[in-house]
Amino acid sequence: MRPATIVIAASIGVCNALSQKDYTQHVNLFIGTEGPVAGSAYSAGNVFPGATLPFGAAKVGIDTTRWNISFAANGGYTPDGNVTAITMLHESGTGGAPTYGLIPQMPLTTLEGVNLLDNITYMQPRTSPDEASVGYYKTQLQNGVKAEMSSSMHAGIIKYTYPSEVEGKHILVDLSHFIPSAGKKEQWYSNGELEISDGGSRYSGYGVYREGWGWGGDYRVYFCARFDTTPVEARLFSGKATDPYWPNTTDVRPVFTNATSIRGGTVGYQYADRIGALFSFPQNSSVVTSKVGISWVSEDKACQFLDEIPHWDLQKVHSAAKDQWNSEVLSKIDVHTSNQTQLEMFYTAMYHSHLMPSDRTGENPYWESEEPYYDDFYTLWDTFRTLHPLLTLIEPERQSDIVRAMIDIWRHERFMPEGRSHNHNGRVQGGSNSDNVLADAYVKGLKGINWADGYAAMKTNAEVQPYNNFDFEDPSGSTKEGRGGLQDWKKYGFVTPDRGRCLSKTVDYALNDFSLSQVARGEAPEDVAVYLNRSAGWQRTWSHNTTSLNFTGFLAPTYGNGSIKAYDPLSCGACDWQSISYEGVPWEYSWTIPFDMETLITLMGGPEMAEKRLDTMFIPGLTQSNQGGNSAGTTIFNPGNEPSFMTPFLYNYWPGKQHKSARLSHDLVDQYYNNGRSGIPGNDDAGAMSSWLVWNMVGLYPVATQPVYLILAPRFENTTVTLGNSGAVLRIQTTGLGSGPYVQSLKVNGIQWDKSWLSHEDLVRADGSDSLLEFEMGAEPVSWDSGDVAPSPGHVTIP
Ligand SMILES: *[C@@H]1O[C@H](CO)[C@@H](O)[C@H](O)[C@H]1NC(C)=O
Ligand SMILES: *[C@@H]1O[C@H](CO)[C@@H](O)[C@H](O)[C@H]1NC(C)=O
Ligand SMILES: *[C@@H]1O[C@H](CO)[C@@H](O)[C@H](O)[C@H]1NC(C)=O
Ligand SMILES: *[C@@H]1O[C@H](CO)[C@@H](O)[C@H](O)[C@H]1NC(C)=O
Ligand SMILES: *[C@@H]1O[C@H](CO)[C@@H](O)[C@H](O)[C@H]1NC(C)=O
Ligand SMILES: *[C@@H]1O[C@H](CO)[C@@H](O)[C@H](O)[C@H]1NC(C)=O
Ligand SMILES: *[C@@H]1O[C@H](CO)[C@@H](O)[C@H](O)[C@H]1NC(C)=O
Ligand SMILES: *[C@@H]1O[C@H](CO)[C@@H](O)[C@H](O)[C@H]1NC(C)=O
Ligand SMILES: *[C@@H]1O[C@H](CO)[C@@H](O)[C@H](O)[C@H]1NC(C)=O
Ligand SMILES: *[C@@H]1O[C@H](CO)[C@@H](O)[C@H](O)[C@H]1NC(C)=O
Ligand SMILES: *[C@@H]1O[C@H](CO)[C@@H](O)[C@H](O)[C@H]1NC(C)=O
Ligand SMILES: *[C@@H]1O[C@H](CO)[C@@H](O)[C@H](O)[C@H]1NC(C)=O
Repeated sequence: MRPATIVIAASIGVCNALSQKDYTQHVNLFIGTEGPVAGSAYSAGNVFPGATLPFGAAKVGIDTTRWNISFAANGGYTPDGNVTAITMLHESGTGGAPTYGLIPQMPLTTLEGVNLLDNITYMQPRTSPDEASVGYYKTQLQNGVKAEMSSSMHAGIIKYTYPSEVEGKHILVDLSHFIPSAGKKEQWYSNGELEISDGGSRYSGYGVYREGWGWGGDYRVYFCARFDTTPVEARLFSGKATDPYWPNTTDVRPVFTNATSIRGGTVGYQYADRIGALFSFPQNSSVVTSKVGISWVSEDKACQFLDEIPHWDLQKVHSAAKDQWNSEVLSKIDVHTSNQTQLEMFYTAMYHSHLMPSDRTGENPYWESEEPYYDDFYTLWDTFRTLHPLLTLIEPERQSDIVRAMIDIWRHERFMPEGRSHNHNGRVQGGSNSDNVLADAYVKGLKGINWADGYAAMKTNAEVQPYNNFDFEDPSGSTKEGRGGLQDWKKYGFVTPDRGRCLSKTVDYALNDFSLSQVARGEAPEDVAVYLNRSAGWQRTWSHNTTSLNFTGFLAPTYGNGSIKAYDPLSCGACDWQSISYEGVPWEYSWTIPFDMETLITLMGGPEMAEKRLDTMFIPGLTQSNQGGNSAGTTIFNPGNEPSFMTPFLYNYWPGKQHKSARLSHDLVDQYYNNGRSGIPGNDDAGAMSSWLVWNMVGLYPVATQPVYLILAPRFENTTVTLGNSGAVLRIQTTGLGSGPYVQSLKVNGIQWDKSWLSHEDLVRADGSDSLLEFEMGAEPVSWDSGDVAPSPGHVTIP
C-alpha cells in the first residue's frame, strides 16, 4: 500500500522538486538523548537514535548499561554506558519501564573472562562518540570492533569491522537479552528456540518475552539471520533461567551443545533455559556483515524479509533509507531560513514525529485482515494532541491507515488501543484517547475509514466497562483498555476518589465524550445531546469555593455524595496511578477543556480573572510539583508533559490577546528546546514533544478533536506544507521575522484576517486549491485579532 502511494505522489509531480533536496543533513539523531546533566540519560528525551525507516517495524540500535541505575534507558541508548548488544526492536521517547531491546548480536574479540550469560563480563565501553545520520548508526567499541548498522522496513544490516590482531572474531547472540528497567515492571525472557544452518552462516528461531511498562504476558518475536562469512565454529548454548530480580548471575554459566538446534524448555514455559549462540569467524576475515529479519508471524516471514536487502552493501541500505525519509517525511514541510540551528531543530522534530506507532501491516500474528496494522501506540495519551493532527495534515493517507488499524483492533479485541505495544492494548493513563484520534480524523474528513465501525468502537469506550485487570499500581479499575472509571462516570457524571486519578480521568472522559458527540453529529445524531451532556462532567466537579494563590474555583476530587476530598490544587502528590490526578496538578488540568473554554472562563470568574489566572501559569517559581523526567521549569505550566501542551495558547480564546500566545510560543521554544543533546524538555513520548515543536515553529496549534488551528507565530520566512497526496500545498509566508514575535497582520487566502484561529477548510480547501497564509510580524504586541475568538463547540450549561 505504501509504495503505491509514493509512486502516485511522485508521478503527479507534487514534490519532485522538494524531494531532491536532502533534508536529512539537518537531522541530528542525538537531540533528546541526554538529560539536563551532560553525559547522562537521566531525565532525557529517551529518543531512539539508531537506524530505521518512517514508522519502521525494525529499529536497529545499541543497548547500553548506565551508571545511574535508578532510571532506565528506554530507547536502548545512554551516552555514558557500555554496549551490551545491538538489537532489532526499540521504542522512542517512552518513559516508565522499558519495552524491547530484543533479538541481539554482540561482537567479541576474546572469550577470556567472559561468561556469555553475563553481559557485565563482556560489555564494551565506546572509545569515541557514536556517529549517526538518518538510516545509519556507528559505534566504536573498546575491543576494537567498529559496528555500523542500517535498516530496511523489517530487517537490519550490521557490518562489523574487527581489528586484525585479536584473539578471536566472535558474534554472540544471547536470546535472553532485553533492556532492563530500574526495578518495577521489568521485562522478562520466557523461552525460545534457536537453530543454526549452512555451516553456521545462518540462524533463525524465535524468542518469547513478557511484560514491560504495558504488561501483557508472553509474546513471540521470530528472527532469521545470515552472515556474509561462514564461521569456523558456531555453537549453541543454554543456561539456567534467571528472573529480573536474580541476585547473582555470575553462577549461571553456558552449557554448550553440538546440536544445531536448541529449545529453551517447553513452549510457553516461563522459566525455560536462556539460550544463545556463539559464532566464531576466520582470523583472516576483518569484516563480517550480518542481516537480521524479524517477524511477529513466522520464521519464514522473517527469512523473506531478508529479501528487503538483496545484497551486502550497508551503504546502499543507508541511502535507500535516506531517500525514503526525504520523500515520505521530511520534504512534506519545506522551510526556508538561514538559521541552521532552527533547521536542525525543525527537521529533527519532524523525524522524531515519524518513529511511532510502528507499521506492522501484514505482521499481526493473531488475525488475518485486509486492514493496515500498527502497534506501539505508546501512548495515545501523549500523541493525540499534536502528533496525530500533524499526520492528518501532511500525511492524511498514513493517518487514515492508522485509524483503520485502531478500528480493526477493536473489531478483534473489543477495545481500541491506548498504550499498546507488543500487541497488547494497555496501559491506560487517563481517558480512552482513541476517541480523540478518531474524532480528529472525522472532523477533518479523512477518507477510507469505516465510520459505522469507528463510531461503534468509540461507543464501546463510552459504554462498556472494561474488566478490571487489578494492576498493582491501581487496582480500582482497568488499566488495560477503555475507561476504568466508567461506572462512576455513568452514575455520577464524574469519577470519584474511589478510583485512582479521579480528577484527571474526569477531564479526560469529558473530552472523550465530546469526541463522541463530534462523530455522532454525522453518524448518530440522536446521541449528540447525550454525549455533550456527559462531556460537561468536569463542571460537575468544579468546586466554586476552593481557593489557591488567591484564585477561586477549581476542579476538585469529588465523592458521589458531593463532598470534596481534602486536596491542594497545586499538588498531585506522587502524581501517579493512585493520585487524584496523573502527571499534572489540578491547576494544570483545570485548563484542559478545549471544547468549552466559554464555560471555563465563566467559572473562573469571567474574562479578566481568568486571564490573570492564565498569566499565573507562567510565573516562574510557583510550581510545587517536581515530577522528575516528566517535568521541566518552575512554572505551574509544565513544558515537559502533555497535559500542559495547549495552555500557553489559550489566549486565543480572548479577543485581542493572541499576542500573548505568540510571545509564549517563541519564549517557550527558546527556553526549553534547542539543537543540543538535551534539547527536548523530558521524554519525547513517541514524538509528542517533537510534534508540539513542529507546530510551534510552523506557527499553528491544532485543537485536536476540532477542525480548528490556533494561530501562533511562524519561525520561518517561507514554509510549504504538502497536504498529503491531494496535489495542494499550504504556503506560509512571513515578513518582518527579525523584528519580533508579534503578528501585526495576517491574510488568509488573500483575505485580511481578524480571527486568531483557522478552520481546517481554510488550510485544506474544498476545491483542492493551494492555501496561503501571509504574516506580517513585528516587535510590538498588536490586537489584530478583534474577530470571533476560537470556538467552544461543546458549550453546555448545566443546572
Ligand atoms: C563500563 O565498562 C568499564 C570497563 O569495563 C567499567 O569500568 C565501567 O564501570 C562500566 N560502566 C558502566 C556504566 O557499565
Ligand atoms: C539518578 O537518577 C535519579 C532518578 O531515578 C535521580 O534522582 C538522580 O539525581 C540521578 N543521579 C544522577 C547523578 O544523575
Ligand atoms: C546485563 O546484565 C545485568 C546483570 O546480570 C542485568 O541486570 C541486565 O538486565 C543485563 N542486560 C542489560 C542490557 O544490561
Ligand atoms: C555470585 O556467585 C559466584 C559464583 O557462585 C560467587 O563466587 C560470588 O561470590 C557471588 N557473588 C555474590 C555477590 O553473591
Ligand atoms: C562436541 O563435539 C566435539 C568434537 O567432536 C566433542 O569433543 C565434544 O565432546 C562434543 N560435545 C558434546 C557436548 O557432545
Ligand atoms: C581466509 O582464508 C580462507 C582459508 O584459507 C580462504 O578460503 C578465504 O578466502 C580467506 N578470506 C579472506 C577474506 O581472505
Ligand atoms: C538561530 O535560532 C536559534 C534558536 O531559535 C537562536 O537561539 C539563534 O539566536 C538564532 N540565530 C540567529 C543568528 O538568529
Ligand atoms: C446529563 O448527565 C447527567 C450526569 O451523567 C445525568 O444525571 C443527567 O440525567 C443527564 N441529562 C440528560 C438530559 O441526559
Ligand atoms: C494573595 O492576596 C494577598 C492579600 O491581598 C496578598 O498578600 C498575596 O500576595 C496574594 N498572593 C498571590 C500569590 O498573589
Ligand atoms: C461523602 O462520602 C465520603 C466518602 O465515602 C465520606 O468520607 C463523607 O463523609 C461523605 N460525606 C457526607 C456528607 O456524607
Ligand atoms: C465547599 O463546598 C463543598 C460543597 O458544598 C463543601 O463540601 C466544602 O466543605 C466547601 N469547602 C470550603 C473550603 O468551604
Ligand atoms: C519566500 O517567498 C517569497 C514569495 O514567493 C519570495 O519572494 C522569497 O524569495 C522567498 N524567500 C526565501 C528565503 O525563499
